[in-house]
Amino acid sequence: MFSLIPVLALLVPVLAQTGSTGSASAVDIEGLQANFEQAQLVPQLLATFDPTATLTVTFGTDTISTGQNLTAAEVASYPNVSVTPSSNTTFEDGTLYTILMVDANPVGTDEATTEQTRHWLVNSVSIATASAAPYAVNYTGSTAITDYAGPGPFAGTGSHRYVIALYEQPSTFTAPANLSTAGTPLGTIFLSSYVSESGLGDLISANYFQVENGVATFTPAATTAVDSTTLAGFASTTASSSATGSASASGSGSASASRSTAGSATSSAAPASSSSSTSAAGKQGVAWGVVVGGMGVVGAVIGAGLGM
Ligand SMILES: *[C@@H]1O[C@H](CO)[C@@H](O)[C@H](O)[C@H]1NC(C)=O
Ligand SMILES: *[C@@H]1O[C@H](CO)[C@@H](O)[C@H](O)[C@H]1NC(C)=O
Ligand SMILES: *[C@@H]1O[C@H](CO)[C@@H](O)[C@H](O)[C@H]1NC(C)=O
Ligand SMILES: *[C@@H]1O[C@H](CO)[C@@H](O)[C@H](O)[C@H]1NC(C)=O
Ligand SMILES: *[C@@H]1O[C@H](CO)[C@@H](O)[C@H](O)[C@H]1NC(C)=O
Repeated sequence: MFSLIPVLALLVPVLAQTGSTGSASAVDIEGLQANFEQAQLVPQLLATFDPTATLTVTFGTDTISTGQNLTAAEVASYPNVSVTPSSNTTFEDGTLYTILMVDANPVGTDEATTEQTRHWLVNSVSIATASAAPYAVNYTGSTAITDYAGPGPFAGTGSHRYVIALYEQPSTFTAPANLSTAGTPLGTIFLSSYVSESGLGDLISANYFQVENGVATFTPAATTAVDSTTLAGFASTTASSSATGSASASGSGSASASRSTAGSATSSAAPASSSSSTSAAGKQGVAWGVVVGGMGVVGAVIGAGLGM
């Protein structure tokens, strides 16, 4: 039932780790960009990607490398997210942000016509800058529109790319009517439309990992890797303590039919109070639930757009 569509490469974990200085180096930023481009998240999901920080995503005690393959079990509960700005970037007190996670489907998916699955959406978080970077995301006073719901891709649909992104949220931000209520269960979203319609600001940073269920029912295409030593900024920083990981080759699923894994975030979802005080709004782990009829399969067949 799936058409076989060759796809490009995915990527490769360039470890987004920062040196001891507490700021993200140029090569950290460049490596992050290279990985997003190689995974085709740029430009398919994000038209452009000019991060001013790196995003450290930690599930339990395991910090992910960008593009890492993980199991659904490993990412079932919400991650701890922290931010490391580049040396010329500062986070100002009082500024609010939106953090979210979407399933951008397998490589090759046309994200302009295939909806993403919204796994996590929290408005009005802040960045805790009191201690040294990496700065933790502060959920006090935030509104968890969608509590974290772990990935649950359908078997055989390839390696799905889960993107966690942090956007600046200007005072003019207005949540769309259908995504303005805390406790809205996992569902779909067109990320680019959401960002433009709500008036979100700059994409501060993002990171991503992959989860695959079973074996893809199509043949993955040949892959290439991001080799961090080939990045322009690498030579100038090798003498420093910058710890950008070397890249290993990584293959990845190619896309054929892509389904939106919309499901319901079961009854364990937190009751949605936007008045959460000290609780970590939106961080409650929610087991990915049963796919509910009516929301389920988008079934868009994709794969075009690969020549880029
Ligand atoms: C800020 O720093 C980043 C990372 O070091 C670099 O890529 C970028 O060009 C710098 N931007 C400016 C405006 O200097
Ligand atoms: C998240 O990371 C911060 C900063 O490293 C740490 O203080 C906090 O205890 C962590 N929280 C969890 C739930 O791991
Ligand atoms: C988190 O934000 C609240 C509300 O602004 C603030 O009172 C608290 O000190 C912040 N926590 C950290 C660790 O910065
Ligand atoms: C919200 O409504 C807009 C139209 O106003 C629609 O385009 C979008 O798909 C809806 N989003 C969700 C998640 O239902
Ligand atoms: C990640 O998963 C894809 C798809 O199964 C596979 O081709 C690739 O080799 C894996 N990458 C790593 C680094 O294990």
